[in-house]
Amino acid sequence: MDKKQVYERVGRWYDLLDHFFEVGRYQAIRPLLFENLSGTLLDAGVGTGRNIPFYPTGSTVTGIDLSPAMLRRAKARRAAVGRAVDLREADIRDTGLASEGFDAIVSTFVFCVLDDDQQLPALQELARLVKPGGEIRLLDYRLPQQARRRFIMRYFWGPVAGWLYGAGFDRTPEKHAEAAGLEVVSERFVYRDVIRMLVLRRQ
Ligand SMILES: C[S@@+](CC[C@H](N)C(=O)[O-])C[C@H]1O[C@@H](n2cnc3c(N)ncnc32)[C@H](O)[C@@H]1O
Repeated sequence: MDKKQVYERVGRWYDLLDHFFEVGRYQAIRPLLFENLSGTLLDAGVGTGRNIPFYPTGSTVTGIDLSPAMLRRAKARRAAVGRAVDLREADIRDTGLASEGFDAIVSTFVFCVLDDDQQLPALQELARLVKPGGEIRLLDYRLPQQARRRFIMRYFWGPVAGWLYGAGFDRTPEKHAEAAGLEVVSERFVYRDVIRMLVLRRQ
């Protein structure tokens, strides 16, 4: 099943299914993503708009997503939060947006959803969209180091997340950074050793 179908199926239930993780983990780490960002920002794979409350004041934000069902929820959240956001249906690999139109780009829990063969095209497109010197900040899951937790995540949560969200915990966008014309600025875990923030910069 392609990712659009996956999120058309789950879109209506997404916020409910993810509620426990949103409240317990993500709400605390989303603000880290926006530290020191300003100007024109792209939220690539905006989903149901969970980042909207954390967009920096004064910034101009565009959010894109493949799934109309997810975008419908994002539009409702935009209205509830009262924040202007340009929400559009687009594929992260071919957005149709103008080159170098953004000061920075964020993408949360999207690269763990993209299949391996989609990682480089997605990074290349984001590299095209960000201004030279601009940052691309990714938040994604990783497999933990400790053997028992790694086993549970790989063989229990992995199949669940794969079926529900088309997600995997072993994606490695950093391997494609150089080919996309990006340098790795930093990578650090922001929740235990399972959620990582990867910062890339256009050279
Ligand atoms: C796990 S959700 C994360 C949503 C949101 N960023 C968040 O932090 O809650 C992944 C999102 O990526 C979107 N997505 C998957 N493949 C995509 C693609 N090729 N282009 C654009 N969006 C995509 C899905 O529709 C979904 O909304």
